[in-house]
Amino acid sequence: MKEEYYTIEKQTIEMKLIETNGFILDIGGGGEGIIGRLNGRKVIAIDVRIEELEEAKNDSLKIVMDATDLKFLPSSFDVATSFFSLMYIKNDHHLKTFKEVHEVLKNGGRFFIWDVRIPPKPADKTIFVVPLEILLPDEKVETRYGTKWNHKEQHLEYFKELARRTDFEIVDEWKRDKIFYLELMKRASSTSPNSG
Ligand SMILES: C[S@@+](CC[C@H](N)C(=O)[O-])C[C@H]1O[C@@H](n2cnc3c(N)ncnc32)[C@H](O)[C@@H]1O
Repeated sequence: MKEEYYTIEKQTIEMKLIETNGFILDIGGGGEGIIGRLNGRKVIAIDVRIEELEEAKNDSLKIVMDATDLKFLPSSFDVATSFFSLMYIKNDHHLKTFKEVHEVLKNGGRFFIWDVRIPPKPADKTIFVVPLEILLPDEKVETRYGTKWNHKEQHLEYFKELARRTDFEIVDEWKRDKIFYLELMKRASSTSPNSG
């Protein structure tokens, strides 16, 4: 079948260095590898596709791994990030991804999510594309992230509901045009939603 693209208007996002003393787990950290460009050697970038990791030119440690099956010990990370990666992960796999991230975060650890609102798919389109201008402290990256549109509707409220179901506390959020940000925290007293 011929791919029919639906491209929204260009979105601009400004990214600042992530302040932490610990390691940062970057989910879907291939491609432009934005979090690795920001925080370099503190970043452990995981991605299911080796080619995407090979493409990412930054100082992160890159490992082929599936977000729905993280191989780290529980409570390994202070910070986890997903920079326009949840849009690539099947909606059916989002809940498991949240559970896995929760498990590998330390108590009080934070999960930062940047992503795009994807509306219901029109019958004649198969790929949803967001063109992005990413402003980093000392460079500007222009890119386009495109994903297969089947069963891929998503918005901020959808991820907040997943956060509640996985016992994250919602710490901060914003929406700007079509993109949004969500900051979650693993509660100090949290038990893993995987257990029991
Ligand atoms: C293109 S990147 C998104 C942008 C990227 N974070 C950056 O900084 O440029 C999204 C990545 O998620 C990866 N991905 C999709 N499903 C995944 C999964 N289940 N686990 C880990 N990575 C996954 C894709 O292979 C893709 O490389």
